[in-house]
Amino acid sequence: MAAHSPLSELDGVFYRGADDFFRESGRAALTYDDVTLATLYSEILPRETNLETRLHERLHLRLPIISADMDTVTEAEMAIGMALAGGLGLIHCNLTEAQQRSAVSRVKNNVHGLIQDPIKVSPTQLIGDVLASIEQRGFGFRTFPIVEEDDRLIGLLPGHVVRPRYAATKVIDAMTPRAQVQTINVRELGKDPIARADRFFTEHIGIHKLLVVDDADRLRGLFTISDIERIIHERQTQLKPARDDQFRLLCGAAISATRNSTGELDRDRILAHVGGLVERGVDVIAVSTAHGHTRSVGDTVEMIHATFPDLPIIAGNVTSGAGVEFLADRGASIIKIGQGPGSICTTRVVAGVGIPQLTALYVASRAAAKKGVRILADGGITKSGDIVKALTLADAVICGGLLAGCPEAPGSIMEINGKLYKQYRGMGSLAAMKDGSAARYGHATKDAARKVAAEGVEALKEVSPPLDAVLGQLAGGLQSGMGYLGAQTLPELREKARYIQVTAAGQRESVPHDIVEVKAT
Ligand code: XMP
Repeated sequence: MAAHSPLSELDGVFYRGADDFFRESGRAALTYDDVTLATLYSEILPRETNLETRLHERLHLRLPIISADMDTVTEAEMAIGMALAGGLGLIHCNLTEAQQRSAVSRVKNNVHGLIQDPIKVSPTQLIGDVLASIEQRGFGFRTFPIVEEDDRLIGLLPGHVVRPRYAATKVIDAMTPRAQVQTINVRELGKDPIARADRFFTEHIGIHKLLVVDDADRLRGLFTISDIERIIHERQTQLKPARDDQFRLLCGAAISATRNSTGELDRDRILAHVGGLVERGVDVIAVSTAHGHTRSVGDTVEMIHATFPDLPIIAGNVTSGAGVEFLADRGASIIKIGQGPGSICTTRVVAGVGIPQLTALYVASRAAAKKGVRILADGGITKSGDIVKALTLADAVICGGLLAGCPEAPGSIMEINGKLYKQYRGMGSLAAMKDGSAARYGHATKDAARKVAAEGVEALKEVSPPLDAVLGQLAGGLQSGMGYLGAQTLPELREKARYIQVTAAGQRESVPHDIVEVKAT
C-alpha cells in the first residue's frame, strides 16, 4: 500500500531528515522562513495530537510554549495565564527580589483544587497584621481560616471585616466562630474531591469557602468556589493547565549572575535570591544572559545546582554545541538557544554575532541529545508555523513579541492615531538595562545610561486578544503542522520532520499574494 511505503526515492533526494539537511546546507545559517517542512502520510487529525513536553522530571508542560522573562512580557498575570493554558511563564528579574517573590506566590496560590496548606491566621493577631501580610505577599483573597497552634480550627475570618478601619481589632473578636463554619471531613471527599466540592457549593447557596478537617478537627485544606468553577471549566476546555504535584500552577523565575562591587559573582546574594523563590514554590529558575557560554554563568549554574540539587535550572543563551555541553556539565537541565533572533534584538547588528535560529537549534539539539538535556527555541517566533519548525529540533519555544500585546502582559495600553498599543522592549535596550537588566548583557546597571551599547530596542506592539485566544491559535497551528506530518506527539514530530530550503520566490509564494486582502488573520 502506497500509504505505508517508504519515502519514494525522489522524495528522499529533496526532502531530507535533519542530519542530512543541515549538514548539506552548504554551511549556510538558516532560519524559520528559509525552510519548509515536507508533508507526510498521516492518520492523525490535528485534534488527536498531544502537545505535552517534559522538560525535567519535575517540569511537565501540556503546551510547549513559555513566555519570555522580559519586563514587558511576564509578571504574575502572564505567568498565571500561561500555566492555565498548559505552558509556563518566566517572571522577569527587573523587579525587586521582594516583588518577584510575591509574583511567584500569586501564581502558586492562584488556582487550586484542594489548597492543602491554606494561609491561616492566629486568633491573637490584629486585623492590621493580616492586612500587612496581604500587602507584602500579594494575596488576592481576604478570607482566612483561624487555627490554634496545633492547627485545630476555631473559626473563619471573613473578607468583609479585613479592612483598615478594623486594624486594631483582634482576629478572635471579628471571626465567624467554629460552630457556624461549614466544613467537610477529609474522609468524605471520595475519589473526585472537585465534584464533591462542586456539589457542596450548589447545595449551600452563598457559601464560597469549604474547609476540610480531619477527625481531630485539624485544618487539612480549603476549597474555594471560584477555583472549583474554574477547574470544572478547564476540564471542558482544550488547553489543560500545567500544575505541580500539589495541583498548583507551574511558575518559573529569572535571575541574573549578579556581581558585587569588586566585580566578583555575588554568591551570597544569588543564593539568597534563589532560596527566597524556592520558598515561595518556584518550579524552575532561569539564569538568563545574552552569553551563557561564560565562566560567570557556568559558576552561577553550578552554585545553584549544588545548593538546590532538585531544582530544574534553565540557562543560556547559547548557539553552539560547546555552549550546550558546557551548561549541561555545570548543572543546567534546560538550555536556551538563541542569540539575536528576537524581534527587539540588535545583538547581530551591534556586536556582529549570533546564528540564525534553525541552524543554531540543529547544532544545539545534537549536543543536547548527547548530554540528555532539553533545549528551548528562544526568540524569533512570529507565527505558529515557526513553532512547528522549531519543535522539530527543540523541546519548547520561548515567545516575547507574540505575547507582549496581550492584556496579561505588564504595562498600560496607549492609543496612537486610533490604534491601541502596548510597550515592548528588549532587555538589552538602554531603558531596560537602567531598570536592572544590565547584568544580563555583562554590564553594570550604573553604566547602562552612558558607557554601553544597547543590544535591543524599545518598541510598541499592537494590542492583541487575550492570552488564551492567542495561545489557542498558536496551539491550533502547531496541531495542524503535526497532522500534516502524521505526528501524534512532539517526539514523533522531531523524528519525522523532513526539510527543504526555500528561495526568496518560494517565501513570497508562502504568504498571501496577488490578491487584495480584505481581512487579515
Ligand atoms: P521575540 O522574537 O519573541 O524574542 O520577541 C524574545 C527573546 O529575545 C531575547 N531578548 C533580547 N535579545 N537584545 C537581544 O539581543 C535584547 O534587548 C533582548 N531582549 C530580549 C530574549 O531571549 C527573549 O526571550
